[in-house]
Amino acid sequence: MDVLQTISNRRSHRVYKAEQLPEEVLTLILTAGLQSPSARNRQPWHFSVVQNAELIQKVHDEAAKVMGKGGSPRFADPDFQIFYHAPTVVFLFGEKDFPWTDVDCGIAVENMALAAEGLGIGSVILGLPKPAFQGDKADELRAKLQCPEGYDFVIALALGYSTDMKDAHDLRQEKISRIR
Ligand SMILES: Cc1cc2nc3c(=O)[nH]c(=O)nc-3n(C[C@H](O)[C@H](O)[C@H](O)COP(=O)(O)O)c2cc1C
Repeated sequence: MDVLQTISNRRSHRVYKAEQLPEEVLTLILTAGLQSPSARNRQPWHFSVVQNAELIQKVHDEAAKVMGKGGSPRFADPDFQIFYHAPTVVFLFGEKDFPWTDVDCGIAVENMALAAEGLGIGSVILGLPKPAFQGDKADELRAKLQCPEGYDFVIALALGYSTDMKDAHDLRQEKISRIR
């Protein structure tokens, strides 16, 4: 698919089938992440790919607990899960002591989201898991997710066959200044 068309077609998807993505498709998505540019080519990321629904739920439960009632009104819905029950979640952990980690992980997660779109896989970038790595169970969860020493959670990407449709978000032209 043309790159501009892929960028334009991508949406954040929040309804997923249980069906797992094929291994070769997942490999292509992860490769797109590894192909991302990074400051000084540091590649300050680690991708932990989780296909264990119990562990994904555990991260959700902990994030919900740490956020408490003030987190999001969506927690009032007992079916709500921050990962939307997607069958695959990629957790991006980043080097803590590198000034460009967040930017680099942001580029990598978008590269993967666009690769997924181009391959017919839905995705949503997720910041909501972060509190799970800030509470009592942070170390336990980092260990279970094989987060390397000196790294911490930056962002996650849920992946799967999505069934929801939505319009493109509004384009705010005033966000562009042209200086000639
Ligand atoms: C850094 C970042 C964090 C996000 N965190 C969440 C999240 O935790 N949960 C969620 O449902 N969507 C999350 N999103 C998705 C945004 O809500 C979404 O990109 C935005 O509403 C625009 O919609 P679109 O992606 O369909 O264009 C996040 C997006 C980004 C870039």
